[in-house]
Amino acid sequence: MHTIVEEKALKKSMTLKRTHFTTSLTQACVKQEVVVAGWVDTRRDLGGIIFIELRDSRGSVQVVADPQKNPEVHKIFEKLRSEFVIACKGPVSTRPEGSENTSMKSGAVEIYPTSVEILNTCKPLPFQIEDAHNVNEDLRLRYRYLELRNEDKRKHLVNRHKVVHAMRNYLNDAGFMEIETPILSKSTPEGARDYLVPSRVHPNEFYALPQSPQLFKQLLMMSGFEKYYQVARCFRDEDLRADRQPEFTQIDLEMSFVEMDDVIAATEGLVVAAFASVGIEAKAPFPRMSYRDGMNFYGSDKPDLRFDMKLINVTDIMVSSEFKAFASVAQAGGIVKAINYKGGAKLSRKDIDDLRDLCMSSDYGAKGLAWITYKPKENGEGYEVNSPIAKFFKDDELATLAERLNVETGDVVLFVADKADLVNHVLGKLRLHIAAKEKLYHESDVSLSWLVDFPMFEYDEKSKRYKANHHPFTMPMKDDLEKLESDPASVKTYAYDIVFNGVELGGGSIRVHNTDVQARIFKALGIDDATAKERFGFLLEALELGAPPHGGIALGLDRMIMLLSNTDSIRDVIAFPKNQAAFCPLTSAPSPVDLDQLDELHLKLVPAEE
Ligand code: AMO
Ligand code: AMP
Repeated sequence: MHTIVEEKALKKSMTLKRTHFTTSLTQACVKQEVVVAGWVDTRRDLGGIIFIELRDSRGSVQVVADPQKNPEVHKIFEKLRSEFVIACKGPVSTRPEGSENTSMKSGAVEIYPTSVEILNTCKPLPFQIEDAHNVNEDLRLRYRYLELRNEDKRKHLVNRHKVVHAMRNYLNDAGFMEIETPILSKSTPEGARDYLVPSRVHPNEFYALPQSPQLFKQLLMMSGFEKYYQVARCFRDEDLRADRQPEFTQIDLEMSFVEMDDVIAATEGLVVAAFASVGIEAKAPFPRMSYRDGMNFYGSDKPDLRFDMKLINVTDIMVSSEFKAFASVAQAGGIVKAINYKGGAKLSRKDIDDLRDLCMSSDYGAKGLAWITYKPKENGEGYEVNSPIAKFFKDDELATLAERLNVETGDVVLFVADKADLVNHVLGKLRLHIAAKEKLYHESDVSLSWLVDFPMFEYDEKSKRYKANHHPFTMPMKDDLEKLESDPASVKTYAYDIVFNGVELGGGSIRVHNTDVQARIFKALGIDDATAKERFGFLLEALELGAPPHGGIALGLDRMIMLLSNTDSIRDVIAFPKNQAAFCPLTSAPSPVDLDQLDELHLKLVPAEE
């Protein structure tokens, strides 16, 4: 309850109550008396008459003060400055002919207020709202709430709201239950570093923030829920990139008594509904590609299929050729691959050298980049081959090359020779680089696909042992089970990733629901019984207590909105994001804490290393 004094203050602070949002003011409202409320977006003083563009959450409307018509209102308007918060009451009128603003929803009308209230003032701003995009990111994030006054910035969060709303509707209608899982918990197996929370009541012990709800959603299947989902906040302490944040949101789901096709079908419906909510059409079913084909033809486990430019293997041609640099790589068990850069014969020698330098940079790691251009002949008939390495090839070898790479006049073919992984990595990246440079796709293109047939294990050269490719609870394919011990590298799984325009949108799998298979996987991973019990004992126990077959998936919500909103930074679609150094410039987190707090937590600080 307010005291009388407070009530008076409140009354004084707001007597005008909004009747309309600015965007609902059209010709139909003319002569109606309305109250609008919002911020002073712009203020122009034209020879005594003052024009204000008043902005609210939906848009803006013009309000005008004419000293001849209403000197009192005009006096208040003289005091108004950028971002003052005001309410205005008055009749809606048609704007004089020729002064309409077609870019505003309410651009045909204006208001000459009969009363105005200043609800709050505003100090000079650290940057102009409309200039936010020119301001350095830390300053923008420090004043993120000001940046978000920009409709262009707010619209990403509007999209986010629409997409989550549509996804919840879809999942609810499909019989999924929304259930929350713990935030303070034990380390989960997604393979990034954990964020740890020290316990006050259990000295020297820590909770881990969830990297995903993986184990809990599996336990919910064992509880008999059968269809679960959650809009789940996840925490991963990993190196940040344009599409990664330390805390992010997954649309996480799990289903019982299903096979891979069932989870894929449910996810396709979900994605189609999500995209439709922001006016983007996605057509299911999405094509599927094996992980192997992704790597072989696109050099990627998230191939961008908006354009073609496949990686073509030409090792067989090179192995017996006179070009020793390539023949020797091929003979030593390496491979030679090429891509056809359509229209690339127009490049200058310097352009090609730049591509070579790029491929030889540390990010790419190639030892060189060889090329053959197919320039139009002067007489206009066909092409002539131009290349420092062409002289090493016989005519029939050149003909086979041209045919395999689908060469036409005007193309340049680019070659890399090395170990298979490196060749795929380099040409995969180069392919993306060329496509971006040559604009081989439109911003509005939508390419959704599935990557399937993932290997169960990846060999880690550093630790000299196998690691789980997805996570250790992923079900090996039926026919590969017998190879878990004899040939782990060849075991494939029922795991699937969904790829949207070359970005991994989500991933999931059918899970192991039987302890025997789970034990064999841990063994292959070199995780002994004691360690498995200590880390995942509660899950292993649950597997023995009537676990149904189950599987699921998690979609990265932030990434999805980033792509649907056509922005290239994940930070744009999060209300209050961290910067690239995992720091929040708005609240200054992380920050030091009181020594008392540390004492309570049984923690002592050691000086940070320089
Ligand atoms: P995964 O680790 O593949 O699977 O994560 C699923 C999706 O979450 C998104 N994502 C991120 N988004 C922003 N910032 C990050 N740091 C980040 N890390 C991941 C990606 C990714 O595809 N438990 C399994 C799912 C399952 O098996 O059901 C999991 O978490 O879009
Ligand atoms: P070289 O015989 O070393 O002068 O190389 C001739 C051409 O082949 C140059 O354009 C090099 O960039 C290229 N080249 C050499 N090694 C490789 C390799 N491993 N992969 C791709 N191109 C290479």
